[in-house]
Amino acid sequence: MNLKEKYGTTALIAGASEGIGASFAELLASQGIGLVLVARRREPLQKFAGNLKDRFGVNADYIACDLSEEGALDRIIEGLAGKEPDILVYNAALSKIGPFLANDPAEHLKMARVNMTTMLGMVHHFGGRMVQRRRGAVILMTSLAGFQGSGYLSVYAATKAFVRILAESLWYEWKGSNVDVIACCAGATSTPGYISSKPGKAGIFAPRVLAPEEVAAECLKHLGKKPSFITGRANRMASFFMQKVLPRKMAVTIMGDTTGKLYRQSPGER
Ligand SMILES: NC(=O)c1ccc[n+]([C@@H]2O[C@H](COP(=O)([O-])OP(=O)(O)OC[C@H]3O[C@@H](n4cnc5c(N)ncnc54)[C@H](OP(=O)(O)O)[C@@H]3O)[C@@H](O)[C@H]2O)c1
Repeated sequence: MNLKEKYGTTALIAGASEGIGASFAELLASQGIGLVLVARRREPLQKFAGNLKDRFGVNADYIACDLSEEGALDRIIEGLAGKEPDILVYNAALSKIGPFLANDPAEHLKMARVNMTTMLGMVHHFGGRMVQRRRGAVILMTSLAGFQGSGYLSVYAATKAFVRILAESLWYEWKGSNVDVIACCAGATSTPGYISSKPGKAGIFAPRVLAPEEVAAECLKHLGKKPSFITGRANRMASFFMQKVLPRKMAVTIMGDTTGKLYRQSPGER
């Protein structure tokens, strides 16, 4: 499918300088779609935007902005200087690993702002304009952690459940307006963020860690066809087993035990 013909010429990617967001940027640029990249650090953004221009000959602008700050949406609208995104990818997320009580409520609220509140504002603003134009696409990144209670990832997992349900709901509401919405439910993916979280060894039955470009490519393949999907066959099988076969209590316990083992936490720690 030619995404430029279907959706338009400009994509806005929130959380775009590395990892899965950067892979979306490369794939969209390879189809001739111009980009506006958002992340906190200016230097990697500037370099990456230059690199995309050189390699693909597309327009690539950037806006340095912290999505946890109130007013982030206004800064992005200002930075766009009238440009109208035809595709919105909301990729950035904050993830604090550890027992719920070990994190300050302020940290939990910051996670809620990056992962939900700013995203909600951007989807309402830019998605609303796509609906008016009757053309566009919204991609929201979420996680397998959001499918059940996930000990040591409690707030992150809860925000990711919110993202999936929002995307699926809007997929339904906006399909008549020709605006495609999809939730991309990723499992472990070898991004700089994932690597720097220093996960320990997963069990031998753990699904393979995917590359960011695999995740982005799979998502673009499913866009317009489904309200949500899980990346990678092994993740889909593991999720089927967890959601459809196991009793809820066991699924939640396995998730907490696995995360605890990966990140050296135990239920006694507070
Ligand atoms: N990696 C995984 O294993 C995995 C698994 C399941 C789901 N996911 C989901 O996939 C998405 C991407 O994950 P990732 O591992 O690629 O993410 P990441 O490495 O943590 O971050 C990716 C991008 O987001 C930007 N960013 C982070 N916080 C930001 C903020 N507050 N404001 C603006 N930009 C910000 C980063 O640049 P700056 O640092 O310069 O801001 C970077 O460009 C997330 O939604 C995550 O929940 C990932």
